[in-house]
Amino acid sequence: MDVDKIVIRQATSYDIVFLSEILVAAAAASGINIPIDDLPDYPDAYQYVEGYYEGSDVGIVAETISGEPVGAAWVRMLLTDDHAVGHSTPELTMGVVPEYRRKGVGELLMKELYRATWGKNIPKISLGVHKENTSAIMLYRKQGWIEDGTFKEYIMMSRKTNV
Ligand SMILES: CC(C)(COP(=O)(O)OP(=O)(O)OC[C@H]1O[C@@H](n2cnc3c(N)ncnc32)[C@H](O)[C@@H]1OP(=O)(O)O)[C@@H](O)C(=O)NCCC(=O)NCCS
Repeated sequence: MDVDKIVIRQATSYDIVFLSEILVAAAAASGINIPIDDLPDYPDAYQYVEGYYEGSDVGIVAETISGEPVGAAWVRMLLTDDHAVGHSTPELTMGVVPEYRRKGVGELLMKELYRATWGKNIPKISLGVHKENTSAIMLYRKQGWIEDGTFKEYIMMSRKTNV
């Protein structure tokens, strides 16, 4: 698979099932296994996707030329954010389906997401990554994310979107 053949498009409310799959995979990478049908029962996780709407959230989907979604990244302000940082910056969720990992899709999503924030008064975005989620930590470091501290089992990071 050539990453040049991956198409990036805006995520919409119609993508909520796929975004939920990505969210569940991201939670699993943090050691939290959530059956997708039970996601609403996990408010700490569900808040990352509940009511996703392109009018207020900023996100993108990566898909093959035949329209199969293979990854997504989005940011949103969290209503009940208890992280040590991130109160004033939208928080990132992202993931790539297992068969398409290590092919550059994650980096493509990152770069296109920064671009998607431009003109939307989002100068900075944040995230919390589990300290043992090595692949994600390596991706964020490579992408120039700054470590702001730790919160429970998570490393809190942030990045300006204009660089
Ligand atoms: C983290 C994730 C999004 C990376 O996506 P990806 O498409 O595989 O990433 P890329 O192929 O673009 O890799 C970019 C860089 O990330 C790092 N990386 C990605 N996977 C890695 C791995 N398994 N081991 C070490 N580094 C890794 C490398 O620095 C890599 O650059 P390189 O290929 O030049 O070495 C993917 O592993 C994933 O979806 N994980 C589950 C969900 C998740 O953890 N989301 C983040 C929650 S905070």
